[in-house]
Amino acid sequence: MARKNKILDIEDIHTYYGESYVIQGLSLYVEEHEAVSILGRNGVGKTTTLRSVMGLTPPREGKIHIDGTQTTRWPAHKVSRMGVAYVPAERHIFPGLSVEENLLLAARPGRGKDAWDLEKVYRQFPILSDRRKQDGSTLSGGEQQMLAIGRALVSNPKIIILDEPSQGRSPLMVEMVTDVVRDFCVASGITLLVVEQNYRMALNVATRHYLMGTKGRIEGIATTSELREDPQIIQNHLAV
Ligand SMILES: Nc1ncnc2c1ncn2[C@@H]1O[C@H](COP(=O)(O)OP(=O)(O)O)[C@@H](O)[C@H]1O
Ligand SMILES: [Mg+2]
Repeated sequence: MARKNKILDIEDIHTYYGESYVIQGLSLYVEEHEAVSILGRNGVGKTTTLRSVMGLTPPREGKIHIDGTQTTRWPAHKVSRMGVAYVPAERHIFPGLSVEENLLLAARPGRGKDAWDLEKVYRQFPILSDRRKQDGSTLSGGEQQMLAIGRALVSNPKIIILDEPSQGRSPLMVEMVTDVVRDFCVASGITLLVVEQNYRMALNVATRHYLMGTKGRIEGIATTSELREDPQIIQNHLAV
């Protein structure tokens, strides 16, 4: 079988905040059309991993490739122009801009029949359509999450990277966001990397999971079915 194209390939990165050595050798990859999660407790280095990829906190050592191009230590705007849509945990909706303006600013032409545009986002997220003239920052938390995901989609990226989409959300909102990610991102074949402490969400959206321990160490890799068959793996991994 032909090897699939790796959209994101992280090879043995080491990342610091000043003297603080936070990611001590991390490797992982995401293939085209694959939905992958990084599961780990608070503070293990999930966000720092994403910041390393985005060039916000560049790794001191190691290599990062995006769709075959080496992007290690590239500035964030160049990484994003490679087709990486990053949705941080605090969603950065531009205040003072309407929902529509938030989407327009992110929109980039896509190719083929699966390309995303504003109309497609409005079809899939009717709530955003209803609120299109409203200031984005006045939306509820869950609606802002949807707007952030809608913004990622209209940029027609090669990969969407979500940092803890369930963080601070009510169970109902987590369910709604899970449905959105699964039905609109995963179902349409978008390549996805999602970082979570909430394993239910991770298992519902991703098919392959990296279990991250302290200092960004990968302690295991498992498929969704393996983790569902043996829930103890997750219990052990996420236990404090
Ligand atoms: N800006 C920063 N400066 C110094 N240390 C930080 C900074 N951000 C995070 N850290 C530390 O790095 C470690 C990993 O943090 P983080 O990547 O945010 O973990 P996670 O996203 O898994 O909760 C933690 O020990 C955290 O305290
Ligand atoms: Mg984090």
